[in-house]
Amino acid sequence: MVCLGNICRSPLAEGILKEIADPERVIVQSAGTAGYHIGNPPDPRSVSIASKYGIDISTQRCRKFVSSDFEDFDLILAMDKSNYRNIISLAQDERHYQKVRLLMEELPDGPDEVPDPYYGGKDGFEEVYQMVYRACEALLERLRKEKQDL
Ligand code: 4NP
Repeated sequence: MVCLGNICRSPLAEGILKEIADPERVIVQSAGTAGYHIGNPPDPRSVSIASKYGIDISTQRCRKFVSSDFEDFDLILAMDKSNYRNIISLAQDERHYQKVRLLMEELPDGPDEVPDPYYGGKDGFEEVYQMVYRACEALLERLRKEKQDL
């Protein structure tokens, strides 16, 4: 799960997917394409909205997306198109390109991007939580169908 700062959207996406996926089958991490907040915990507004829904993301720490993530993960899900382009700019071959998608592509009828809530109020975080939750459910459903063993 990748966003810009790895303190608002992708930590929520990591927490949500970890909550609803089988940890024996799905390994989830998050990262940011920018390095502004490396080592920091998620934004308190993300911690708070996750906590409202029973998910503790407070122990996550920000890291930057690195090229080796292309080898370590099967799927790299970008929160918005700018994140997508930043990730793609680091891809070295077709196999890497194929791993990168927009998270919201999992819900074809909705918006393409998870809006950046950083400069808004806390209402933006509720919207982000709901969007990301639904996309994560759809992602798992797709993987279950494709792989039959998740
Ligand atoms: P995120 O939000 O990409 O969802 O973590 C942001 C966090 C920090 C900044 C921008 C977006 N920033 O400019 O510091």
